[in-house]
Amino acid sequence: MKHFTYKSLPELESDAERIGAGWVRFEHDPARVRAALARPVDVSGFRVGNSIAIHPMEGCDGEPDGNPGELTWRRYERYGASGAKLIWFEATAVREDGRANTRQLWIYPQTAPELARMLERTRRVHRESFGADDDLLDVLQLTHSGRHSVPKKTIAYHNPCVDAKTGVPPDYPVISDDALERLEDDYVAAARLAAESGFRAVDVKATHGYLLVELLGAKTRPGRYGGPLENRLRFLRNTIGKIRAALGNRVMVCVRLGCYDGVPYYRDETCGTGVPCRYEIPYPYGFGVNPENPLEEDLTEVRQVIGCLRNWGVVLVNVSSGSPYFNPHVGRPFEKPDEGNYEPPEHPLLGVDRHFRVAGQLQEALPDLPMVGTGYSWLQKYAINAAAKNIAEGRIKFFGLGRGSLAHPGFAREALDRGELDERKVCKTLTYCTFLMRQKNHPLGQFPCGCPPFDKEGYGGIMKEAVASRREK
Ligand SMILES: Cc1cc2nc3c(=O)[nH]c(=O)nc-3n(C[C@H](O)[C@H](O)[C@H](O)COP(=O)(O)O)c2cc1C
Ligand code: SF4
Repeated sequence: MKHFTYKSLPELESDAERIGAGWVRFEHDPARVRAALARPVDVSGFRVGNSIAIHPMEGCDGEPDGNPGELTWRRYERYGASGAKLIWFEATAVREDGRANTRQLWIYPQTAPELARMLERTRRVHRESFGADDDLLDVLQLTHSGRHSVPKKTIAYHNPCVDAKTGVPPDYPVISDDALERLEDDYVAAARLAAESGFRAVDVKATHGYLLVELLGAKTRPGRYGGPLENRLRFLRNTIGKIRAALGNRVMVCVRLGCYDGVPYYRDETCGTGVPCRYEIPYPYGFGVNPENPLEEDLTEVRQVIGCLRNWGVVLVNVSSGSPYFNPHVGRPFEKPDEGNYEPPEHPLLGVDRHFRVAGQLQEALPDLPMVGTGYSWLQKYAINAAAKNIAEGRIKFFGLGRGSLAHPGFAREALDRGELDERKVCKTLTYCTFLMRQKNHPLGQFPCGCPPFDKEGYGGIMKEAVASRREK
């Protein structure tokens, strides 16, 4: 079913009102849109040149050894020329066995020099386009893919609902406390290499169903890293503390935080729509989840966690939600699912509203800690109107764009110059990028992912190959 049928901003606005998406509001005046997005943001004394962020977006196009590949370089050159002053580099594994696919970036001594060169190229392109890069904040996202690692999954605890969806048997071993403690040091080593490579910041990623957010929701895990919130926070507390002790002010520490895990969804084969899994009440799993109704968020612990992160020296939080593997409509409201997946179980505007509500409530609770908002791409060319409103009213400090930046990396310059986006170029949330991400039938074990409809030159041929290889299979 087509949801995005709006021919004008007032049409979209009245639909948002009609369906109760009260957090989705818009600035209409292009001059005010430009002014809001052009605002610099202070991140712990570093002045970021404007309020526009490019979210971390994995391209699955690295080399088997974890180095960036040709398409990785191309993407970051395009981001450098975009005009966004916050570029959040994609998920980069801290260990080989924490990679989500065979082409995920991986930081270790052999790949750090190439990552440093790619960062420098991004900065140089940015300088050539905009005159300076001393107000460009680059963050490298550090990750362990947990139960989505290949070839061997690592799980923090058993959640029968998530286990069933992700193919984990009930007797699968859980990572031990000692192994977690050693993993903290892998994050520190990766952060050190990132700092030496020139990154101004690192992100200790805890979102999207990967290992660190799973730990935050590990209420039923025994031992030092599970149970009460204090234990579930141990990994982040130790890791951030160790990074700060080892590197001091040489690198800023950020966290992309999954603030609402939700529950797994399945495709109802009669109508194709997503339906939640069966779950017990109270639901004793997950982070940011209301145990009495896990289809709703409960931000009580999330606020506590962000307060702790701030006290431990985290300077920037990127607010996200959901898991791309088990409830993609939560993390990235879409118009069309990837092949074989479910149609959205709610109007995508309600998904956007959830993102804005969660981020807005958190930013309002901690106004001095800058946060990056997520979930704007479904709004297509009106994303910047919503962003400007949120920024102007203090509901977020940075407007982050994910899929929209793959489709149209020049969105930032266009927004800053004109206060309007070109409808012909913007992402239409058709999900071909995720389709590519799921295709493994490639000589390197993974197809690269990008935006075939709006970046034909880069991905038109790749899409054809992926479709053909899928047919063969
Ligand atoms: C192809 C693809 C790759 C992604 N890679 C990452 C990633 O590396 N790290 C991350 O935190 N989120 C990743 N995401 C999630 C996005 O950063 C973003 O949160 C999501 O797309 C919703 O924002 P949007 O509506 O602007 O697209 C990815 C999403 C897609 C579709
Ligand atoms: S393939 Fe392109 S248009 Fe489709 S969701 Fe991805 S970025 Fe957007």
